[in-house]
Amino acid sequence: MSLYKKFFVNAKEPKGFLGKLMVNRMNRHHEGLSIWGRDNIPSSNYENILEIGCGGGRNTKCLLEKYKEAKVSAIDYSEVSVNKTKKYNKKEIKACRCTVFQQNILDLNSKNTYDLATAFETVYFWPRIEECFRNVYEALKENGVFVITNEADGLSEESSKMDGVIEGYRVYTAEELENLLRVAGFEVIKSIHHTSSPWISVIATK
Ligand SMILES: C[S@@+](CC[C@H](N)C(=O)[O-])C[C@H]1O[C@@H](n2cnc3c(N)ncnc32)[C@H](O)[C@@H]1O
Repeated sequence: MSLYKKFFVNAKEPKGFLGKLMVNRMNRHHEGLSIWGRDNIPSSNYENILEIGCGGGRNTKCLLEKYKEAKVSAIDYSEVSVNKTKKYNKKEIKACRCTVFQQNILDLNSKNTYDLATAFETVYFWPRIEECFRNVYEALKENGVFVITNEADGLSEESSKMDGVIEGYRVYTAEELENLLRVAGFEVIKSIHHTSSPWISVIATK
């Protein structure tokens, strides 16, 4: 396997030394997209937030800064991501505003717990995505909001750059995500497309 491939498989599940490098890269590389994605979250006083696929933990910190009254539960199935997110949000964890745990979204079993769920740059890797979306639906309270933000919209040339590099990687169009979310039970769904980049946010309300 080439070094390029060895490094980028860590985008799916950071592991070992290269995984540690990858989570640091995520925190830097996704900054612009994350700012845009957070701006797309409908305004509300969210109290309990679920941040799925937290990677290096930067989004977790930014959500805690944006929603000052909120508590954030950050989950990721990678031990490297969980450890990095804990380190990055040490102060907030000590202040009991943040918890981080190792969890595959496919096995999440929370019910009516969160007002907001976020997923930045992660749904490409989710196995059996219909079940994952159903788990998010179940985890949200009534009128809870799920916001997916991706840098690849499945239409641009860039969207296929990781094809064949990461096993199980799949880029969805906004329309495909909307349909999957509808099947999961969400009723109000809208998509926002960035004006000059192939970035999308898909926003679904329970
Ligand atoms: C490309 S990184 C994005 C990290 C972060 N959200 C960001 O925007 O910088 C994808 C993250 O999703 C996590 N992930 C992928 N599939 C997952 C799943 N099924 N359950 C939980 N986490 C998952 C990976 O371990 C990785 O940390």
